[in-house]
Amino acid sequence: MEMDGNDLAGQIGTSITLRECAKTFPDGTVALKPVSLDVVAGETVVILGPSGCGKTTLLRIIAGLENPDAGGNVRFGDDDVTRVPIEKRNVGMVFQSYALFPNMSVRDNVAYGLKIRGVDRRSRKQQALKVLDMMRIGELAERRIDQLSGGQRQRVALARALAVRPRVLLLDEPLTALDAALRETLRTEIDRLLRSLGITSIYVTHDQQEAMVLGDRIIVMSKGEVAQSGTPEDIYLRPANRYVGEFIGVMNRLDGELSNSRLETAAGNIDVEPTLVSKASGASSVFFRPEAVRLAAPENSPLRCKVVAVHFHGGSRRYFLETGAGPELIVDAVNATSAKAGETVGVTIDHQSFIVFD
Ligand SMILES: Nc1ncnc2c1ncn2[C@@H]1O[C@H](COP(=O)(O)OP(=O)(O)OP(=O)(O)O)[C@@H](O)[C@H]1O
Ligand SMILES: [Mg+2]
Repeated sequence: MEMDGNDLAGQIGTSITLRECAKTFPDGTVALKPVSLDVVAGETVVILGPSGCGKTTLLRIIAGLENPDAGGNVRFGDDDVTRVPIEKRNVGMVFQSYALFPNMSVRDNVAYGLKIRGVDRRSRKQQALKVLDMMRIGELAERRIDQLSGGQRQRVALARALAVRPRVLLLDEPLTALDAALRETLRTEIDRLLRSLGITSIYVTHDQQEAMVLGDRIIVMSKGEVAQSGTPEDIYLRPANRYVGEFIGVMNRLDGELSNSRLETAAGNIDVEPTLVSKASGASSVFFRPEAVRLAAPENSPLRCKVVAVHFHGGSRRYFLETGAGPELIVDAVNATSAKAGETVGVTIDHQSFIVFD
């Protein structure tokens, strides 16, 4: 591998194509049903889903740490890598547990992959320092790993993955071990880094906010299958099914009778688009996001609800409302309203934002 003084920036990652990649473990566990996936060169794809849905298994198949069942195929660009082991795929990996060498210096950890690849000592050192500077931890180069904080360790792990100039960067819940504030900082940094490098990245998480921020595209998984693949906006505003709708963000629900452009509920009647009535009628549920709801005086509002609790969030207040027509509604109000727990408020909902699932 050539290791001159060129910057990492500007390099273009490879496209990734998966066809019918399934995984059944020897004990019979079906971790993955046949999954097909196309990742464009330079794209950041986030794989999102609950624990046990097969995220890590999918990532390990892409990395070459796991073989797909017979019939599955993995390509990097035009290269069929299905049977190519990880050390020949030129991927960088970052794990939740940093998997660094604790007694070695930061610089030696970052240079390790280069050493294995036979890069000479001087170039190794130069390249490691360059990547450490990029991660803004150049001053820690001579420290031992066990002298670093969690956030610093995760930066080293990222630097190590990037130092070998991988064709593909694979990240498996890299921020889960960190506290909320640090996660947000590093999330922002990773986002800028991946965009500036133009590297193809696959990022596994069960944190939907992380997925929304980082993903050019999000693949939502459920029980070994892809439930939806789309941009963050698609996934949030146009969920393909109820599972996706309720997994991402807060989703409100009202149960009632749907007919003649109206939903009749225990809390009052609301108008809906005729197209929704044609999708479902009779006993039905309509779904909507908290942003679609406005609170008002009860007198002139189509729905009246009892305030169960109010949480102060700084910039907004979150209201929990009892409707008698399904679970409590969750509403985020930016303007201070005077309604308190125990009082009745009026609710209006933006008709455009109703969702009905088949
Ligand atoms: N080596 C193995 N042998 C048998 N079953 C396995 C093995 N590895 C994983 N599994 C099972 O496969 C399923 C998917 O596991 P996987 O690690 O891909 O989930 P995940 O989505 O990454 O979950 P988490 O968010 O908890 O990391 C789980 O039911 C898990 O128990
Ligand atoms: Mg996992």
